[in-house]
Amino acid sequence: MEVMPPLRLAGSTLFEGHALSVLQSLPSESVRCVVTSPPYWGLRDYGIEGQIGLEPTLPQFLNRLTRIFSEVKRVLTVDGTLWLNIGDSYTSGNRGYRATDKKNPARAMGTRPPTPDGLKPKDLIGVPWRLAFALQDDGWFLRSDVVWNKPNAMPESVKDRPIRSHEYLFMLTKSERYYYDHDAVKEPADGGVGKRSRRSVWNVNTKAFSGAHFATFPPELIRPCVLASSEPGDFVLDPFFGSGTVGLVSQQENRQYVGIELNPDYVQMAASRLQGLRSNVLRLAVYG
Ligand SMILES: C[S@@+](CC[C@H](N)C(=O)[O-])C[C@H]1O[C@@H](n2cnc3c(N)ncnc32)[C@H](O)[C@@H]1O
Repeated sequence: MEVMPPLRLAGSTLFEGHALSVLQSLPSESVRCVVTSPPYWGLRDYGIEGQIGLEPTLPQFLNRLTRIFSEVKRVLTVDGTLWLNIGDSYTSGNRGYRATDKKNPARAMGTRPPTPDGLKPKDLIGVPWRLAFALQDDGWFLRSDVVWNKPNAMPESVKDRPIRSHEYLFMLTKSERYYYDHDAVKEPADGGVGKRSRRSVWNVNTKAFSGAHFATFPPELIRPCVLASSEPGDFVLDPFFGSGTVGLVSQQENRQYVGIELNPDYVQMAASRLQGLRSNVLRLAVYG
């Protein structure tokens, strides 16, 4: 494996490369907050070598992500926090592919993993919780499961279960004590008078970003994570940067950001979305 010289973070930077290899080149304890959404298991073929999400078995997928997040842990400050969003999926019953869902084209995909050992056709896999437990076993403190409720969730063509209208956002920390700005993320109290401590169900509409063929973060999902877990000037990292929403919110909140993205097309998309970034795109070798 190619060994990179250690990098110094001199300001907001977008790296084109594999999350693991770029993370391995970043200095220890250099970012205060990580907000990210890795590719979901078996949902989408991003058509690029080294991509996460097409591992043939669920344990392989979980192991690969756990390895990447252990490198994230090294890069986090001792009082740092990881906010992790990951979607769930249903077993395919070994159909091998899933046709386009007319009502929800974003769910179409060209590939589908086999049914994991011990599960049955139509089972909800529980990927988010399996990953959360794997990270807990790897030393992370699992501090909160936030339910991201999507009031504008797309309909699905199913008639034998509730339409899925939420995802999880896990709050994981490197240490038992960590930075959390409780006041910065208060929410309106019932009846709209005054404020109260933030609850664990967040209502945030999904918002498509034109040009992206994958689920992008709505900025209002990211903002409380950035405000609670970093201070102005701190570095905020997203190792699966996509269209760069974490960079955008970090910029708006006067934080610096570090983005890592494997797909050069998405790197360009994010770069043109973030003002002043074009001259600061570092290209690194891609290896899987
Ligand atoms: C769910 S999307 C992230 C979207 C992002 N949160 C946004 O708001 O646009 C996952 C991203 O991970 C990228 N990706 C897949 N495998 C990767 C890898 N090994 N290293 C870095 N990025 C990777 C994909 O290209 C995709 O852009």
